[in-house]
Amino acid sequence: MSAIRFNQVSLQFPGASRPAVDRCSCDIESGKLVVILGPSGCGKTTLLKMVNRLYEPTDGKIYIDGTEIRQFKATALRQRIGYVIQQSGLFPHMTVAQNIAVVPKLLGWSRPTIQARIDELLTLVELPPQEYRNRYPAQLSGGQQQRIGLSRALAGDPQVMLMDEPFGAIDAITRTSLQDEILRLQRQLKKTILFVSHDVEEALRLADYLLIMQKGRIVQYDTPFNVLTKPANAFVHSLMGADDMVRQLSLLRVETAMMHLPTDYTQNGTPTVDRSDSLRHALSLILKTGAPKLTVLDQGRRSAF
Ligand SMILES: Nc1ncnc2c1ncn2[C@@H]1O[C@H](COP(=O)(O)OP(=O)(O)OP(=O)(O)O)[C@@H](O)[C@H]1O
Ligand SMILES: [Mg+2]
Repeated sequence: MSAIRFNQVSLQFPGASRPAVDRCSCDIESGKLVVILGPSGCGKTTLLKMVNRLYEPTDGKIYIDGTEIRQFKATALRQRIGYVIQQSGLFPHMTVAQNIAVVPKLLGWSRPTIQARIDELLTLVELPPQEYRNRYPAQLSGGQQQRIGLSRALAGDPQVMLMDEPFGAIDAITRTSLQDEILRLQRQLKKTILFVSHDVEEALRLADYLLIMQKGRIVQYDTPFNVLTKPANAFVHSLMGADDMVRQLSLLRVETAMMHLPTDYTQNGTPTVDRSDSLRHALSLILKTGAPKLTVLDQGRRSAF
């Protein structure tokens, strides 16, 4: 079962000439990080906000773990879904600990459990609890505020996380380290993450799957490798910067690229390629198998090493 399912979802704001989100359908697999990518105004935020019912679709249905989300009370739904936005959205009059405790309190957790959870999350995002627990948001750097925003979203241990350009306002170096953090957390916690970005490099680094939007529609939903190498149309090709294919491919995580390596076959223990296979195929076999050499076949006959 998919963790999140969009079924023909549309939203037309009152007075708008066309829908902000237009008949979007897709299945988000549990435990995957899906990056929603597209130009400004294409409907990314609108799509995301319908998942936790900050907006209601004018048409279509959204399911979480098979249940249509309108069957949940909006407040109950939001407690099950972590939400991280660009300016962290921390409550300025609350300390770091109080900010993180918001959802656990609503969920009725005991005080000691909440305190333990705060320390656990601060440790997870590498901010020592003794030092940061009692600070106010204004006493933190932008990157630290985003880490607390992330901790707060994780506090109730939601299975689904929505992240709307969470690192948009952050300098490049901090941004890269926050991206690494997300990948580490993802590996550790196995959340299903919908992550909005309009930064192609960020998307290529993070995504298990890319969901490309244009004018409210999903134009492609596939792995980063496939989106780069088989763009659905010229818009996707240019959005992805696919003219500089080597550079863009180099941004992919090895594990996401590996999914696409053809299952190789071997002859006498050596991986085999055919003369007509691409060099990329040959290189990927070397990378995949670690073999020092390849057997090259010519229409099935061994021709070279
Ligand atoms: N509350 C609203 N009322 C009316 N129109 C809205 C509202 N929110 C968004 N829109 C419109 O819906 C369209 C999609 O907006 P959305 O915020 O989803 O874009 P986005 O892809 O997130 O863009 P960005 O990358 O700039 O954040 C835009 O044309 C926008 O003007
Ligand atoms: Mg947006």
